Amino acid sequence: MNTLEFVVFGLLSAVAGGNRPATPADTAQIFAADAARGRQIAFQGTPNGVQACASCHNASGPARGQGEFRHLGGLNQTYLYRQLHNFRNGVRVHATMQPIAKAMSEQNIRDVAAYYATLRPASGARPPLPPR
Ligand code: HEC
Repeated sequence: MNTLEFVVFGLLSAVAGGNRPATPADTAQIFAADAARGRQIAFQGTPNGVQACASCHNASGPARGQGEFRHLGGLNQTYLYRQLHNFRNGVRVHATMQPIAKAMSEQNIRDVAAYYATLRPASGARPPLPPR
């Protein structure tokens, strides 16, 4: 992308509500993650009361992931990271997910995003919502 495209895209992204592409700094942050720890959070939650994600979303299997409870397996790592931050800071409003994301630490968010991104998407999984 040349400088002009970069500036134009940046402005468009700003107008679109801060939905900017991940910068190299974001990516570096996101990759400072431990997928094995993320798996533990997904199945057991955290000591400070974050519920196991799998109890609603499942890992990637067919049992859940219906209706609102989307499959998270195979979603893009940056997408997952950003959605959790969006819930946390109120950009994305949802009565169930906001308190969960708020109770998560930055490292928890990185770790679960890394974990779910390593999974294969479930067959029949719906595509993610448009990024916000
Ligand atoms: C009590 C049930 C419940 C639990 C536990 C739960 N979630 Fe959710 N989650 C939901 C619901 C319902 C939505 C749909 C929100 C919406 O429509 O905006 C959602 C949405 C999401 C999304 C957005 C998916 C998309 O397609 O954009 C992500 C990411 C997510 N949850 C991650 C997690 C993680 C990580 C955990 C564990 C730390 C977790 N959730 C635990 C119910 C839950």
